[in-house]
Amino acid sequence: MPELLLLNGPNLGILGRREPEIYGTDTLADIEKAVADEVAGRGWTVTSFQSDVEGELIGRIHGSYDTVGAIVNPGALMITGWPLRDALASYPRPWMEVHLSNVWARESFRHESVIAPLASGIIVGLGAYGYRLAARALLAKVPH
Ligand code: DQA
Repeated sequence: MPELLLLNGPNLGILGRREPEIYGTDTLADIEKAVADEVAGRGWTVTSFQSDVEGELIGRIHGSYDTVGAIVNPGALMITGWPLRDALASYPRPWMEVHLSNVWARESFRHESVIAPLASGIIVGLGAYGYRLAARALLAKVPH
């Protein structure tokens, strides 16, 4: 079965409890289910991986070259994640960058993402719904 990779970086494993006024009340499990629902009709399954450790995210990317595409929320690695960026450069499939919050409405250190230039598309500020939209974008982008 074709697999979609859902990758979440540091501090995203505690969604639901983490600053809900910024990141909302949906948990990562809720998001995983929402993404799985979006892609089920196409026969895709979702492999979800979250880590607070950059190297673990990189290892997962290396092991996922045969997935159909990916949704990546790098968390604060958007700012410092040059090794993550290089791993994503090697990933041969389309992938979407997602941020729950509108990073440009926040502190200036969040205004640039080192991975953004490589993404097929970017969704910010729409909360957990952004992951659903990213899944739909990948469905449209990946040929049948
Ligand atoms: C985030 C935005 C990042 O700046 C922050 O470090 C996060 C979450 C978001 O989803 O809005 O951890 O990626």
